[in-house]
Amino acid sequence: MKRRYLRPIVPALLTLSAVSAIADDTALLNEARAVATSIPPKLIAVLKDEIAHGGPEGAIAVCRDKAPQMAKAASAQSGWSIRRVSLKNRNPKAVPDAWERAVLEDFERRAATGEAPETLEAGEVVVDAGKKSYRYMKALPTQTLCLACHGSDVEISPAVRTKLQALYPDDKATGYALGEIRGAMTIRRPL
Ligand code: HEC
Repeated sequence: MKRRYLRPIVPALLTLSAVSAIADDTALLNEARAVATSIPPKLIAVLKDEIAHGGPEGAIAVCRDKAPQMAKAASAQSGWSIRRVSLKNRNPKAVPDAWERAVLEDFERRAATGEAPETLEAGEVVVDAGKKSYRYMKALPTQTLCLACHGSDVEISPAVRTKLQALYPDDKATGYALGEIRGAMTIRRPL
């Protein structure tokens, strides 16, 4: 069955507690969305700048160091834990857990049925080992800029390829085409 995280089917008869639960979720969703969308534009601006000055091989450090630094700073500021994951990860730690994998697979299905990749998001309250948290993911579509390091063999220069192979011998994050889902921001907060 298709998972529609953000379109709960509201039953005709709602108890008061169910109403407040939905209201709470909306507040959490809005907050999660704001946190998750705050990082990618900043990262893209730094990447663009770095590529213009030092070429894509010089910008590898941006994706490698700046992205985790920005996530760490935003985590400290917001109280949400923030990271990036992908079904075809480059960083060996960017492997999705079961919930994240299900969401990423759902994003793929939704993109295949025509939903715009930049609009794909999912958020819900999750109970894990008796602990409740709110989890949220937002898809990161492949843009033209990303192809220099995540695209096909002709789009990735020999210098970039050599550097990537040295840093990430188990790299799965190449061969992407424009508009494909490169991965997602994934954030959570205990409730
Ligand atoms: C200059 C090269 C470069 C460019 C351009 C680039 N990336 Fe990356 N990307 C990397 C590197 C290197 C990593 C591994 C970072 C690390 O070690 O955590 C990475 C990791 C990621 C990850 C984390 C998951 C994983 O596979 O490890 C995502 C998501 C991602 N990139 C998306 C993008 C998107 C979307 C764009 C375009 C807006 C982009 N990247 C542009 C080099 C690049």
